[in-house]
Amino acid sequence: MPIDILHQLDGKVIVGLGSLKYLEPIIDKLNPYKIGIITDRNVAAIYRDKLAQIIGDMEIDTYIVVNNGEKVKSISTATKIWKILIKKEFTRESLLISFGGGVVGDLAGFVASTYMRGIHFINIPTTLLAQADSAIGGKTGIDMDGKNLIGTFYIPDATIIDPIFVKTLSLKQIANGISEIIKHGIIASNNLLKTLENNQEEIFSKNLTLLEKIIKSSIKIKLDIISRDIREKGIRRILNLGHTIGHAIEKATEYQISHGEAVSIGIANASRISEILLGFDETDRVLNILEQFCLPTKMLVKPDRLVDIMKLDKKNWRGKITMVLTKKIEEPTITEFTEEEIRNVLGDIYE
Ligand SMILES: NC(=O)c1ccc[n+]([C@@H]2O[C@H](COP(=O)([O-])OP(=O)(O)OC[C@H]3O[C@@H](n4cnc5c(N)ncnc54)[C@H](O)[C@@H]3O)[C@@H](O)[C@H]2O)c1
Repeated sequence: MPIDILHQLDGKVIVGLGSLKYLEPIIDKLNPYKIGIITDRNVAAIYRDKLAQIIGDMEIDTYIVVNNGEKVKSISTATKIWKILIKKEFTRESLLISFGGGVVGDLAGFVASTYMRGIHFINIPTTLLAQADSAIGGKTGIDMDGKNLIGTFYIPDATIIDPIFVKTLSLKQIANGISEIIKHGIIASNNLLKTLENNQEEIFSKNLTLLEKIIKSSIKIKLDIISRDIREKGIRRILNLGHTIGHAIEKATEYQISHGEAVSIGIANASRISEILLGFDETDRVLNILEQFCLPTKMLVKPDRLVDIMKLDKKNWRGKITMVLTKKIEEPTITEFTEEEIRNVLGDIYE
């Protein structure tokens, strides 16, 4: 498959096997004063040699290796990185490269967007979830009290998405990415859902040609939506399908459950609620697809606890809790609930 060169605002999105070769010319063109790379321990351990190969002769001024896991998306890690950049005398002309999954991408993007009011930023996502979803759309963030409550919108100069990195992911990590791709399918592409339904084995055996196709479809759906509403004032809110319940579950379990799994539970229960309130008649299909990829669908956390957390959700709109529901596949709708309404409906579906 050819490499696709797409755009989000004035940032390039380069997708396809072999797209890493674009890194060097992009950096040459940016001509940054000092370059820093942020990655996490796992990725650093697996890709030390590959990274050296990608970087080639470029001079890197600082490698920052953070712990892996959601807990590093914190103000204390951001502060440590800001201090390193100050110490290394990074300026507005400097470049930060994120090399890792969604956690590193959200954190590095947040630092890049806030250091000196914004420096050059390149994102190289290495998990399926980050490639198919989180590296697109320019959302950055750290967690504080609630998930991603502090953050910015910041479009990288370039996002380079090479599916080769999927090769070293565990099946659980593949499933985490599939969860967000299922979300894109439900929102906008029955064909994408069918591809997932019919190719579980090929996906779990990491068929890169197929995964490249799936990643490209997923990215195009997200790019199309964000191009119409980058700051999430309207249509972009549909991308939050599964995330009102999902984020609350992540927080309630103190991030012991992964983002992809939490979103899966969110999607499953948004489908159940859509069936009750809107007559959505494909709940079983949605649950089957999630379960095909060994993703959880049961609520896990009691409704009262979830609602207490949901009240802090940044997706809330003028005091109401919002949730994306579906009338049909490809027909998402944003629904607002009072606290009492959401308690009742979650109570109805909690087993
Ligand atoms: N900004 C957005 O729009 C957006 C959208 C969705 C999710 N997110 C965020 O993304 C995060 C979840 O991202 P994630 O699922 O990528 O988690 P992650 O970044 O924690 O990565 C999961 C694990 O995989 C490891 N890993 C990364 N690349 C690897 C590779 N190629 N081979 C082997 N192991 C590898 C990591 O070290 C980590 O242990 C959450 O914080 C979520 O809030 C952001």
